[in-house]
Amino acid sequence: MRLILLAAPGAGKGTQAEMLSEHYNIPSISTGAILRKNIKEGTELGKIAAEYINEGRLIPDELMLKVMDERFKQDDCKNGFILDGFPRTIAQAEALSASPIEIDKVLSLEVDDETIIERLGGRLECKSCGSTYHTEHKPPKTPGICDKCGGELGTRADDKPETVRERLHTYHTQTEPLIEYYKNKGLLRVAKGQSEIDATSRVVLEALEA
Ligand code: AP5
Repeated sequence: MRLILLAAPGAGKGTQAEMLSEHYNIPSISTGAILRKNIKEGTELGKIAAEYINEGRLIPDELMLKVMDERFKQDDCKNGFILDGFPRTIAQAEALSASPIEIDKVLSLEVDDETIIERLGGRLECKSCGSTYHTEHKPPKTPGICDKCGGELGTRADDKPETVRERLHTYHTQTEPLIEYYKNKGLLRVAKGQSEIDATSRVVLEALEA
């Protein structure tokens, strides 16, 4: 299974990618996580990425394509993968389509902007392993502590309300056109996001396995 998850920022891509990764036993590749790791480690890529991410903009296609080219060469991609956050522009989708990689399905997870603003206002992220929680919908067992690694939880730098608004604008102008693009290729499946995570997982699996 080579699957693309297509959805607005905060719609729940990362949350569903984690579930799908276990369900299909394939890795989930989050471009956002790759970029945040580079920012944390202070690499050249991280320094460039931070400027764009903090303003809610996409990093340049050419740079993103180089990162993904390297990632696809890794051994764990052999039996399939879930792409969480790539492609995000028509140019990225065209480059993927021109590569030898055959995508099987593209899942569009639909969530409205108001819900997203509420969700990102309550998101918590582990500063060590990057696991995601929510103050209300997915609270950690011990407040402020990651269930998985015991790391400290905090908010993501790009979850500030003004950056979230910019990210949504970027999504609607640059990424949303991919829904039509993949519909025309006959690869698109659609799932309507639900108000709870487990319910969303059920509709996601139904859409993929119908
Ligand atoms: P990225 O990390 O991909 O961020 P994003 O797309 O903005 O998505 P998020 O990670 O914010 O949200 P999500 O959809 O994964 O939602 P989550 O599961 O956490 O990218 C960050 C930045 O990197 C981009 O802005 C860009 O600058 C750059 N970048 C990345 N890829 C790029 C590319 N290809 N090209 C160029 N630049 C790129 O859920 C959100 C919250 O809601 C959580 O707290 C969760 O617990 C909760 N929640 C989830 N589902 C539900 C539910 N059903 N009910 C209730 N709560 C829920």
